[in-house]
Amino acid sequence: MSNDPLVIFTPSGKRGRFPAGTPVLTAARKLGVDLDSVCGGRGICSKCQVTPSYGDFPKHGVTVSEGALSEWNAVEARYDRVRGLKTGRRLGCQATVQGDIVIDVPAESQVHRQVVRKAASARPIIMDPATRLYFVEVAEPDMHEPSGDLERLKAALAQQWDLTGLVADLSVVTRLQPVLRKGKWQVTVAVHHAANSNTGQILEIWPGLHESGIFGLAIDLGSTTIAGHLCDLVTGEVLASSGIMNPQIRFGEDLMSRVSYAMMNPGGDREMTTAVREALNTLAGEIAAEAEIDPALILETVFVCNPVMHHLLLGIDPVELGQAPFALATSSSLTLPARDLDLAALNSGAQVYILPCIAGHVGADAAAVALSEEPNLSDDLVLVVDVGTNAEILLGNRNKVLACSSPTGPAFEGAQISSGQRAAPGAIERVQIDPDTKEPRFRIIGCDLWSDDPGFAEATAATGVTGICGSGIIEAVAEMRMAGLLDAAGLIGSAEQTGSARCELEGRVHAYLIHDGSAEGGPRITVTQGDIRAIQLAKAALYAGAKLLMDEMGVTSVDRVTLAGAFGAHISPKHAMVLGMIPDAPLDKVTSAGNAAGHGARIALCSREARTRIETVVGQIHKVETAVEPKFQEHFVAASAIPNAVDAFPILNSVVPLPSPSFNTGDGADGGRRRRRRG
Ligand code: FES
Repeated sequence: MSNDPLVIFTPSGKRGRFPAGTPVLTAARKLGVDLDSVCGGRGICSKCQVTPSYGDFPKHGVTVSEGALSEWNAVEARYDRVRGLKTGRRLGCQATVQGDIVIDVPAESQVHRQVVRKAASARPIIMDPATRLYFVEVAEPDMHEPSGDLERLKAALAQQWDLTGLVADLSVVTRLQPVLRKGKWQVTVAVHHAANSNTGQILEIWPGLHESGIFGLAIDLGSTTIAGHLCDLVTGEVLASSGIMNPQIRFGEDLMSRVSYAMMNPGGDREMTTAVREALNTLAGEIAAEAEIDPALILETVFVCNPVMHHLLLGIDPVELGQAPFALATSSSLTLPARDLDLAALNSGAQVYILPCIAGHVGADAAAVALSEEPNLSDDLVLVVDVGTNAEILLGNRNKVLACSSPTGPAFEGAQISSGQRAAPGAIERVQIDPDTKEPRFRIIGCDLWSDDPGFAEATAATGVTGICGSGIIEAVAEMRMAGLLDAAGLIGSAEQTGSARCELEGRVHAYLIHDGSAEGGPRITVTQGDIRAIQLAKAALYAGAKLLMDEMGVTSVDRVTLAGAFGAHISPKHAMVLGMIPDAPLDKVTSAGNAAGHGARIALCSREARTRIETVVGQIHKVETAVEPKFQEHFVAASAIPNAVDAFPILNSVVPLPSPSFNTGDGADGGRRRRRRG
């Protein structure tokens, strides 16, 4: 056996013997230990930091003596003086092995570090970004051996980083010469490798060592709202999140009305494409400003969206998606330059990745939910519901996964609700109604106090109580049902019928007053009969979609339910079930996953491996088409009742017995509950 020093890396446990004098970074590379380096061992990037451990390590069978690593050298001393090295840290490219040694690689020095996800159920993201930075020293031009600057840059990348087959954008080539000379032939380049591709593309070049970071945007492009997360492409950290309304709303509130707009108006699709691209540029600028970064440092963007949004983003007329057989122009994932989508706010070389679509009505957003929640890896049967203007619904386990999309409309996002608004400070997000007094109390976004707590008025003076958001309206309707203010058919009772003066006559139907701010010049916030109908339509579509998948799977119940969506994290499982949004299940088996589609976008942004994985998984998901399935209508009608006209909810009833008043006046004054829409 060799007498060379034994080097053991933690946490990987990888070990090997190396001749004395071997740099730690070299040993790590040879063992395949995940130790980062941007400068290639020149001692200037500090990405290679490690923590040596000294003493007895019976577990590893070694004793590490003081001199097991070389003394600090001038490079480390200088780095410590200028930037500061944490106590006990060494630069892996400078410290050399002198004796048996145990070396810890801290998380921030790992390329494939884990990014912790906040939700409890969460699987971590393993960083494996498509775009990475490389510092190189480029040979200077030589009259006697003529070659182009680009060719020498490529040669340097091949020699120093083993990167071959690279191509460079014209925008990089045009800036190459001044940047190389400014950096004194030392430059940092950003190289992008698309998933499933061996060729790479030079996206950007900076003089010297680039230390301002590179960033990516994960965008959930919804029919009503567009949500974006700005992520650090090295750490995966979310630096800022922001959302704006999708300006296409002016062409139609839901998907089918936008498809109709494109059908009825020549050039209508182009108008909608332009509108959404402009909004995306605005959003990118806003998020970059919030994070205080230069938007030109955004090198990648990942989109998840439903098929109609997908086509309109790409500039494809969505007309085929409006009629059977709902053919997509392409269902594959796409990697393309951001400039093809007119995303001028980003870096000129920025790349876009769009997740694959599952089918004509089941888009890249459903694929993103699958990537985030991984029903295909579940041992028990899980129903994943991503609530938005369209609900993406997945049902499955290790054996089989089914997916559909259901047209819920924008009610769950606060649109089409009389006092509805986006989830923003001032919006009512929680509601409780006392079943005896029928008096409500509520909480608004931005304040932890309930409305009947002392100090509520002062604490909310700045924002006021402005409206009611998606989670607020769901709780309000469910609480009204539990308090006996609303019957199973969805009719609000009169003041006489309910014993509450808050049930006010409004035309021929009633509305329930939650908050009257009119004395202070604020709004009167009521839940109207029309609001109840909008919520009934939305939740019936959701439930009918879930039931359709259960039929297809041949089951009458599910083991657990995951609620996702922009406000998925805020929906109370109890209220969702009282409403009959989701099938009967033990309440502790109903969990919230937050914005699963957005999270899936973030995973794809941070990991090439995840892109490859979801492309495979999508091919295995079986889609169910709600639009042509007659059973959908049947389930929909039954699900319009609260919670349901035919399905019993035994588990729910054992926890929350619902009163059974009937307020039906028989005069047809039901606010048009037979109305039904697709979107
Ligand atoms: S690899 Fe850059 S400082 Fe060590």
